[in-house]
Amino acid sequence: MLSRTALEIPREELIRFRRHLHAHPELSFEEHETAAFIVNELRDCGFDEIRTGVGKTGVLATLRGGLPGPVTLLRADMDALPMDETADVPYRSKHKGVMHACGHDGHVAILLSSARALSRIRDQVPGTIVFCFQPAEEGPAGNKAMIDDGALENPHVDRCFSLHLYSGLDVGKIGVRDGAFFASSDRFRIVLRGKGGHGAMPQSSIDPIVAASQLVTMFQTISSREIAPKDPVVVTVGAVHSGTTFNVIPDYAEMLGTTRSFDDAVRRSIPERMERMTAGLADALRMQYEFEYFWGYPPTVNDPAMNEIVRDVAAGAIGDENVVYPHDVVMWAEDMSYMMEERPGAYFIVGVRGPELGIEPQHSPRYDIDERALEVGFRMMTGLALHG
Ligand code: NI
Repeated sequence: MLSRTALEIPREELIRFRRHLHAHPELSFEEHETAAFIVNELRDCGFDEIRTGVGKTGVLATLRGGLPGPVTLLRADMDALPMDETADVPYRSKHKGVMHACGHDGHVAILLSSARALSRIRDQVPGTIVFCFQPAEEGPAGNKAMIDDGALENPHVDRCFSLHLYSGLDVGKIGVRDGAFFASSDRFRIVLRGKGGHGAMPQSSIDPIVAASQLVTMFQTISSREIAPKDPVVVTVGAVHSGTTFNVIPDYAEMLGTTRSFDDAVRRSIPERMERMTAGLADALRMQYEFEYFWGYPPTVNDPAMNEIVRDVAAGAIGDENVVYPHDVVMWAEDMSYMMEERPGAYFIVGVRGPELGIEPQHSPRYDIDERALEVGFRMMTGLALHG
């Protein structure tokens, strides 16, 4: 295995890339300037195998190493969020209403600098590295769009890795977890149809608000009474729309919500449970109902062998003592899960919390990072590429 000291850390470049991207954020599937910036910097260091427009705005750059080895895909997501940045920093967003508040600017900077550095020592790189710059992580499943566009073939990808900058962890550390890292994220819409009437005459109406209230509570028994306590499940009703005023019983109630889980079998079982409860309640209370369920991101599940590689690389790159195993369960979702369903992969988090920064969570309008985290990300990504 190659000594990692062969690569100098391009500190100035990492920061320059990150600040440029931070100042020029773009929304999901609109990452045109970002993609052009990436392609330009890759061409500049001699990359010739570049595919653009993969999954609309994605970029794939292939580096064929001089040593035998697997095909490794390293991925960074590129998109920003529809919100205004409120922090007064020199690299503040120049695009009104758009901000890199999830750290994807840092992800791109890390992967781009890693690609450039590795291209200079191509002869010492084992196997083939596919640098994957992915659009639209924040909702529209850009990862799946890239797979559908052939991102895992030509060359056939054997394994994949991705990281996320994370505000809940100190800079210098990475977080690793066996099994599921992030949850699945699915959505539902339910309509309960009753019969409207005067608020003083419930006997002449069929009240959908009373029914909806009971259904919200009943759904909580999915996690507390139906699924084993070791398997965390969230059923959140995030919106209930019904009625217009104080003395009218409305015709119907609409409920919108999300479900989360870490286990695919548990996940697949949730809509049947919800619809059974909805149908039973509607029948008991003389309602009609509509039930719609929308599959979203699968759980992000680490492959044990790939996770072992992450730990191995981290031991050399940042030291064992800087690898932490976060216990707090975060039921976020992440679309890298699609690639990790197709190929063995591992996902880890990189701490960005520095001594001078307040703790601003991901998606805060003041989100910022301790830029030393970029070096950690660079060490990890190049280390994974060089781990044959
Ligand atoms: Ni993110």
